[in-house]
Amino acid sequence: SHDIRLAVIPGDGIGSEVVAEGLKVLEVLGLKVETTTYALGAAHYHATGETLPDETLAELRGYDAILLGAVGHPSVPPGVLERELLLKLRFELDHYVNLRPVKLFPGVETPLGKARPEDIDMVVVREGTEGPYAGAGGVMRRGTSQEIATQESLNTAFGVERVVRYAFDKAMTRPRRKLTLVHKTNVLTYAGDLWARIVERVSAEYPEITTDYCHVDAASMFFVTDPQRFDVIVTDNLFGDILTDLGAAVAGGIGLAASGNVNPAAPGSASWAPSMFEPVHGSAPDIAGQEKADPTAAILSVAMMLDHLGLADESARIEQAVAVDLVERQVDWVSRTTREIGDDITARVAG
Ligand code: NAD
Ligand code: IPM
Ligand code: MN
Repeated sequence: SHDIRLAVIPGDGIGSEVVAEGLKVLEVLGLKVETTTYALGAAHYHATGETLPDETLAELRGYDAILLGAVGHPSVPPGVLERELLLKLRFELDHYVNLRPVKLFPGVETPLGKARPEDIDMVVVREGTEGPYAGAGGVMRRGTSQEIATQESLNTAFGVERVVRYAFDKAMTRPRRKLTLVHKTNVLTYAGDLWARIVERVSAEYPEITTDYCHVDAASMFFVTDPQRFDVIVTDNLFGDILTDLGAAVAGGIGLAASGNVNPAAPGSASWAPSMFEPVHGSAPDIAGQEKADPTAAILSVAMMLDHLGLADESARIEQAVAVDLVERQVDWVSRTTREIGDDITARVAG
C-alpha cells in the first residue's frame, strides 16, 4: 500500500515545467507515492475536444490528492479550459476553501522595501465554489450595439457559513487570532450583508478571535501600505483571486505563491473528495518552454498538500529547504533555470 495516491495534472505552459520540480522534491522524502498523470489541457482539448470528461472526473475522485500545474493557453478561447477544467474540478470536488498563504520568507526582497517577514504573514481564505465564479448570468443581443451582458454573484448562507467557519478555525491556530472579512458591503449590498451577518453571528462562538472588516479597495491599499494589519482574511471568490496575486507580489513574487483548493470534509465521509494543490500563478505563455519559470510556488504547493494529508514533518522539511534556498538566492544571486532551482531544493530536502 502507498502513503499517497496522487493524481497529477501538469496542464499547460509552465504548468508541466513547475510540476516536474514539485514531484522531484516529493520523491526524495522517503514516502511511498503512487502518481498517475492526466494529460488534460490545451493539447488534449485540440486533439479530442474534451476538457474534463466525466469518466476522468470520476477517476480523479479516487485519489488522495491532486497536484495541478496551470491551465490556459493562447490557442484556446479564454474561459474554456479555465471554466470547464479548473473550475469544474474546484466545483465538482467541492473545494470550498481556497487557501492562499501570503508570507514573506526571510531574505526575500519585497517591493514594500523595508517590510520584515513578521509584517507580511497572513492566510487568505478565499471562497472557492460560489460568487461570480458560479457562472450565473447571460447575454442578450450579442454582437449588436444593444448587447447586454450580466454576470451575477451567487452567495448562499450554506456556502458562506462553511467557509467563514473554516476561517475562524484557521485563525484559532495562529498566534494573533485575528480575522478580517474583506468584501464590498457598501456597494454589493445583498451579498455583503449576507457575509457580514454570518461573520457577526459565527464570531460569537469565537470570543478569542478579534474580528474586523475591510472593504476590498481599502484592503488592496493596506496590502501595500500596512500588511501587518492582516492575519486571516476571509473573502469572496473573486476578491480573493485578485487579492492573492497582489499578495504574491508583495511577498516576493508570483513565482513563490502556493495554494490549496481544499475540501475539508473528514476522509471517508460522504462529502469528502480529494483536495487539489497548485501554484497561484497561471500557465505564463510569455515564458513557457524557456526554463525561466520559478518552480518554488509548485514546490510549496506540494508542502501544503503534505500538510493537508497529515504529513506535517515532510511538509516542514520542504518549507525549510525552500526557506534556505530563498535566503541563498538573495545572498549569492545567480540566475538558475527552472530545473536547477528544483534540483537545488531537492538536494536540500534530501539532506
Ligand atoms: P500568469 O500567472 O500565467 O502570468 C502572469 C505573469 O507572471 C507573466 O508575466 C508570467 O511570466 C509571470 N509568472 C507566472 N508564473 C511565474 C513563475 N512561476 N515564475 C516566473 N514568472 C511567472 O497569469 P496570466 O498571464 O494572466 O494568465 C496566463 C494563462 O494562465 C491564462 O490562460 C489564464 O487563464 C491562466 N491561469 C491559470 C491559472 C491556473 O491554472 N490556476 C491561474 C492563473 C491564470
Ligand atoms: C487562479 C486563477 C483562476 C481563478 C482562473 C484561471 C480560473 O486565476 O487560480 O487564481 O480565477 O481562480
Ligand atoms: Mn488568479
